[in-house]
Amino acid sequence: MAPLPTVLPVLALGARPLLIDNQPGSLAMGAGALAAKIRPDTVAVISVPLCGYPADTYDAHLIEDTAQAHGIISAGKLAGTTGTAGCFSTHDRKLLATGEGGFILTNNPGLHKAVEAFTRHDHPRGNAAAVNFAGPPRADQAAGRVHGRARPCHRRQRRRHPMIRHFTATGIVLHRDTVLLIEHVKLGWWMPPGGHIDPDEDPVQAVLREVREETGLDCAIIAPDVFAHDAVQVLPAPFTILVEDVPEAGQTVQHIDCIYVLRPTSDPVALAAQAGEVQDPRWVPVSQVGELRTPPELPALIHAAAQSVNALTGA
Ligand SMILES: Cc1ncc(COP(=O)(O)O)c(C=O)c1O
Repeated sequence: MAPLPTVLPVLALGARPLLIDNQPGSLAMGAGALAAKIRPDTVAVISVPLCGYPADTYDAHLIEDTAQAHGIISAGKLAGTTGTAGCFSTHDRKLLATGEGGFILTNNPGLHKAVEAFTRHDHPRGNAAAVNFAGPPRADQAAGRVHGRARPCHRRQRRRHPMIRHFTATGIVLHRDTVLLIEHVKLGWWMPPGGHIDPDEDPVQAVLREVREETGLDCAIIAPDVFAHDAVQVLPAPFTILVEDVPEAGQTVQHIDCIYVLRPTSDPVALAAQAGEVQDPRWVPVSQVGELRTPPELPALIHAAAQSVNALTGA
């Protein structure tokens, strides 16, 4: 059983909803009826615990439509916490009401990021204000490559719409003759760890945090001392700053990416993959980076970074 508001978002996504009959004497989905309808291309099961009646849990990727089930506990678990996501409505006629509204519970970091981006016009950290003024992407942008580099800079400056720019930081972590790379699930690329600079962060804090979050490693920055003064704090300069065209939510945004070179300060062997967005951090010999699927400039960038470290340390 599913009310219309459960089915409409499925249709809006272009997916095909298959309705499952209730278990006799209950409002929960019948396990037999569900098993009979599951197909190889089924992407999710939505259970709808209605009117206080808990639904069973299922093995498939489960979304709980918990609009009508705030606070229900079944087998020691709160409704909305048993599957991949629990979707709550806080409409006026729901148990917990805010007039209009709702919230989603999930433990899945990739999904969390996607929901955050969707609900905040792709600016989950509020670090750019141009989202409402960017206009639709042009045909050449929409066709977009990931990290497009083909268009020369002077053409970029003549865009009709103001460019949305995000400030990001990336860490090239070098240890002996190897570099720390992770496989980015969404892009299918091996890349150095990195990500957006939060509003109250400087780029150094951001790169150290991103590397720690994505690989479990603590690091220090390797950079030459170019200037110091008692009157002011001086941050290490990035090794270089790349401008990367990145498709996000149907349009191209620019990542102004501060590239730092780092060395590990914690045990290089103790790596921890972050579930969801990235997986499998790995030390790759610098000479073998070109054999992996990477952004096109990455092998040359890592090579240049390794050479600069050798020059700095006299290695
Ligand atoms: C089971 C169920 N799912 C979803 C909704 C939709 O909630 P909203 O109106 O907040 O989008 C409702 C609202 O009645 C509902 O009962």
